[in-house]
Amino acid sequence: MMFSKRIACIGAGYVGGPTMAVIAMKCPQYKVTVVDISEARIKAWQTDNLPIFEPGLLDVVKAARGRNLFFSTDIDAAIRESEVIFVSVNTPTKTFGEGAGKAADLQYWEKVAREIVRESRSPKIVVEKSTLPVKTAQTMENILNANDRKIHFEVISNPEFLAEGTAVQDLLEPDRVLIGSHETESGLRARQEIVDIYAKWVPRDRILTSNVWSAELSKLVANAFLAQRISSINSISALCEKTDANILEVARAVGMDSRIGNRFLNASVGFGGSCFRKDILNLVYICESYGLHEVAQYWESVLEMNEFQETRFVRAMIREMFNTIVGKRIALFGFAFKANTSDTRESPAIYIAKKLSREQARVVISDPKALDNARIDLAELEGITYQEDPYQAAVGAHAVAIMTEWDLYRTLEWEKIFDVMEKPAFLFDGRNIVDHERLFKIGFNVYPLGRPPLKHF
Ligand code: NAD
Ligand code: UGA
Repeated sequence: MMFSKRIACIGAGYVGGPTMAVIAMKCPQYKVTVVDISEARIKAWQTDNLPIFEPGLLDVVKAARGRNLFFSTDIDAAIRESEVIFVSVNTPTKTFGEGAGKAADLQYWEKVAREIVRESRSPKIVVEKSTLPVKTAQTMENILNANDRKIHFEVISNPEFLAEGTAVQDLLEPDRVLIGSHETESGLRARQEIVDIYAKWVPRDRILTSNVWSAELSKLVANAFLAQRISSINSISALCEKTDANILEVARAVGMDSRIGNRFLNASVGFGGSCFRKDILNLVYICESYGLHEVAQYWESVLEMNEFQETRFVRAMIREMFNTIVGKRIALFGFAFKANTSDTRESPAIYIAKKLSREQARVVISDPKALDNARIDLAELEGITYQEDPYQAAVGAHAVAIMTEWDLYRTLEWEKIFDVMEKPAFLFDGRNIVDHERLFKIGFNVYPLGRPPLKHF
């Protein structure tokens, strides 16, 4: 079969895999090859046991795999044959040297850029799909265009806005697709090539174009704004607990103002995920490096509020359980950082489990999809047990704490759970997803977030 364009994607993770699967499904005329240094990941993409859990993803992959979607570890070959190269490698927070703890670690990105230069024999469009500090394209162009073969590389910023758990839906019907380029002749030509890919299924008015710096910065800012909403509502949940106001009622009243909007106003035990924290730290670092200390502090406070929310949740658990949890079995319901994913990166449950374990509680972790990752995250701790079945996890427990808003926890037979628990039985709802009055009537002492507790003593 003759393909009209060959696209490579370097990095077969949570972003590269789903994004390319959707492009391949929607554009059978393009050949899409996804490559990674991790053999295990690539092997898994070639089976029906995909390396990530994402609703609907297997169907999309199966629609295109072997037809025009390929997974491979031969990175060099993919670079050589493709006209367009998306790069979606990880860009974690730097853990060493200058900027440690805040700046983005760009070593993986730079390695890829050098590999692209080494292998290329023809001009390429290199697309930044990873989330990167504003101005990265400049550095990348300097590396890419410093080649003695006179090959021209055009760098495009096309940040990804998908959320895990809804990735397929987000990719099929994105709020917007953002494509930033230089406003030079070759930049505009490259921009149009990328627009043409998305225009195969995304309405044209949802495809935004901009200069490359605006695109890079908009990604960091979008994540910062989303996280800021959660920290805002979480800060108010603490105030509600002191004043007998109800956070659900407050969020509803505030969110119905159409200028504010009702989404992302769910108080929680804290936000997790691989990106919010790292991207805000990155934004903070960038602001500091330009001498904008007040701006840096403003955004850093979003993270401080998140840490406060996690800390005060555990403190409340210990306080309410008579100030000691030594030897008490405590079941965490949910370990993923949100529902419908197996991803546990930066999950608030990691912090909570560690803190409870240090207080010498006997922690049992339950989750329908994330136990494998939980075992890795908590490997250093002794005495943690893992039990997929929530009914089993509750046996002999003094407390259940809901960490993830999995639907399954809304519909449990809570009477059964109450029966097998130690008494008094405690329920800490870190997501406000169960019917608190009903559980109180069953006999639980219930601690919602941002609402008065319902206690039998
Ligand atoms: P990930 O860790 O799941 O995937 C990255 C992949 O890149 C890994 O499989 C790794 O093996 C591979 N890789 C690293 N160096 C490589 C190299 N030199 N050659 C080939 N492969 C290499 O990360 P992710 O969650 O997919 O995130 C990737 C980027 O996308 C990050 O910048 C992130 O901020 C951004 N992002 C993530 C999400 C999300 O929901 N996870 C959403 C939007 C944007
Ligand atoms: C987030 C953004 O929503 C995506 O647009 C972005 O592309 C992505 O980060 C990224 O750059 O990685 P994601 O982290 O997958 O997506 O998931 P979210 O739905 O944003 O949830 C993040 C965290 O906030 C979760 O722990 C979730 O439980 C929590 N959350 C979310 C709340 O506590 N309250 C809310 O109202 C919403």
